[in-house]
Amino acid sequence: MSKIRKIVFPVAGMGTRFLPATKASAKEMMPVVDKPLIQYAAEEAIAAGYDQLIFVTGRGKRAIADHFDVSYELEMELEARGKEELLKEVRKILPSHVDIVYVRQPQPLGLGHAVLMAKRVVGNEAFAITLADDLIDGFNKPVLAQMNDVFERTGRSVLAVEDVPKDETHKYGIVDSVPLDDKTGRLKGIVEKPDPASAPSNLAVVGRYILTPRIFEILESTDRGAGGEIQLTDAIAKLLQEQDVISYRYDGKRYDCGSKLGYLIANIEYGLKHPELKSEFNQYLKKFSS
Ligand code: G1P
Repeated sequence: MSKIRKIVFPVAGMGTRFLPATKASAKEMMPVVDKPLIQYAAEEAIAAGYDQLIFVTGRGKRAIADHFDVSYELEMELEARGKEELLKEVRKILPSHVDIVYVRQPQPLGLGHAVLMAKRVVGNEAFAITLADDLIDGFNKPVLAQMNDVFERTGRSVLAVEDVPKDETHKYGIVDSVPLDDKTGRLKGIVEKPDPASAPSNLAVVGRYILTPRIFEILESTDRGAGGEIQLTDAIAKLLQEQDVISYRYDGKRYDCGSKLGYLIANIEYGLKHPELKSEFNQYLKKFSS
């Protein structure tokens, strides 16, 4: 089976949960300590072997494209001031073997619609999707690389899942899945943001997907669903009528940076691991909480 090389980052969302911070800037540019969420997402994808990054952008998202461009002025300035370490950091944002393509989502019609905008660029091959506000520390192996292993083994679409508290099912796509082994299962159903009473389980999809290109044709005929939006979840529900779809309990820890609490927790935990900050920040937190 050929390796998956293309990954879609839907980044056209309005970031309403972080207003006013996101009024004039992209939520994906919000930093966890010193790196924007979208850079963590790109680094994870590149570490997993992806070399074609497809950003589905919309209004007010220019900072994302600027972030991945070479900034000659900045590099010259850092060089002139002898800031070698910073220069290295800035230069490694996008390795030379990686290409970026930007496509636009002209109207905010939902995640499924955003993914559909990448159809022509992806073409007829399996591809991945990352939702950058789910920041995932894969411990020893990036979660996308773990999922690639499952795809290479099975040739099926793969969704990253984790257990969530029963009273939070309304925040996620929830799957009904028959266990195949301790990590994987075969989907019988999937539903977007069900109430706890009607949720088929408490196994939630997190923001990492590997999908076969059939999803694009299905998305083209998918009507608006939950929240009046064209939902990726609804298209996956149709896909699994035709093809097996695998749920995969990933190894790692997810930080829900789409919520204020999750974002704060991510900043604290990444701060505690940050090479420059960890010792002082540890001391501060100990003092603060005593
Ligand atoms: C999206 C998906 C949902 C998934 C979630 C993961 O929802 O629609 O199925 O469980 O991402 O973070 P959103 O968080 O964009 O509302």
